[in-house]
Formats: sequence, structure tokens, C-alpha cells
Amino acid sequence: MKRPTIQICPSVLAADFANLGREVKRAEDAGADALHVDIMDGHFVPNLSIGPSVVAAINRFTDLPLHVHLMMYNPFDYVERFVEAGADQISFHIEATEDIEETLAFIERCNVRPALAINPETPVSMLLPFLALIDEVLIMSVHPGFGGQAFIPESIERIREMRSFLDAYEPETEQSPISIAVDGGINEKTAKECSQAGANVFVVGTHLFGQLDMQGAIKKMRSLLADTEVN
Ligand code: DX5
Ligand code: ZN
Repeated sequence: MKRPTIQICPSVLAADFANLGREVKRAEDAGADALHVDIMDGHFVPNLSIGPSVVAAINRFTDLPLHVHLMMYNPFDYVERFVEAGADQISFHIEATEDIEETLAFIERCNVRPALAINPETPVSMLLPFLALIDEVLIMSVHPGFGGQAFIPESIERIREMRSFLDAYEPETEQSPISIAVDGGINEKTAKECSQAGANVFVVGTHLFGQLDMQGAIKKMRSLLADTEVN
């Protein structure tokens, strides 16, 4: 399957929430490709974040695509609300529901890009039955729930394995290339390693929002990733 393009997606979880509008604009002006928005329910992960009304407020502030990452049980029940809030992509966890196909199909019917997220302990081969239904796999490189954690090194091998599955995948009907996103502990060094393993979407929280010059940081990351050979 053809390789999709590189995208850098700041994760607003690391933004200054007291100045969310300004932070969202800062990411947009810095040249982000999309914004990653983390939704946590306090059950699937031991933390709470934001809900649809805050996503709608973010959407009013920016033209950037919004990638909504649901870290919650029963994602099906919330799809509609996040679609109405302006999501362009919705990912949910393969571990969070038994209704995986129904939820992916529903997201697709809402004209939103469906994606599946996967925790560090779950074998990436579990994603294989769903490839025809997704635009992206979101490989967690930390245990979901908190920003600012250290990258789990075994994630590199998981990305490489996913990349080889996707390279061998021949869709039965026409389908855009499936992205491999990596989320958690991404900085220049880990982004480069993930890119070499075959990831093309980089979710970056702490590293980018912690920069005074986010534009410079995104440019630098982009140039580091541009000349990467996947191996
Ligand atoms: C973690 C979230 C991530 C988080 C990444 O549960 O899914 O999107 O914001 O943050 P950093 O880049 O700080 O690890
Ligand atoms: Zn996330």
C-alpha cells in the first residue's frame, strides 16, 4: 500500500487551558497539519479531560482539522456529539468496545475519518480485521491518560510490524493509504526513530507546547522527518 504523507499534530492536552483559543491559534500559525484532541472518561483511563463543548469551542477558533482521540468506554454513544462539535477524524480504542465495526462504520457514515487507537500491551495484529474500515491506526507509545510521559522504546518494533502489515495489505475496494500515527513522548529523537520504523503522523504534546518558538520547532521536526528512509 502507498505511503501517506507526514503530518505533525500538536496535542492540545499540553496547551495552557486558561488560554486555549490563543494556544490553538499558536499551533495553527506555527504550521501544524491538524490538532489532536484527547478525550478521557476517567474509566478507560484514570484521568478526565474535556468534552464536546470544548471541542466545539476549539473548532470555532481554527480551520485546522481536528483529530479527536477518544479514550473512553462506549465510544459509539459519543460519536454524534463529537461530529457535531466539528471532528474531522475520530479514533477510539480497540480495547474499549466490542462494537468496533459498528462504531467505525458509523463514524464513516458521518463523513468523518475513522481511526483505531491501540494500547502498548495489545498486539498490533488485532488491528488486521479492521483495515478496510479505517484511515489511520494510532499507536500509543505511552500508557494513555497523561501527557508528558516517557516514550516506551518497544513502540518502535510495533510500528515496524504495523508498517509491514500495511505494506502487504491489498484492499479489495479502493482505499486511501492508511496512516500510522504515534502518540506519546514524541520529541525530535523519538519522532525520527518512529519515522524510520514507518510512522507518518506524529502527535506531539509537551515537546511542542513547551516551546516559545513552536513554528521553529515544527519546521525543525519536519526537516528531520523529510529525509527519513523507512528501514
Ligand atoms: C496521552 C495522550 C496524548 C498526549 C501526548 O494519553 O493521548 O495525546 O497528549 O502528550 P505528550 O506528547 O506530552 O506525551
Ligand atoms: Zn492522544
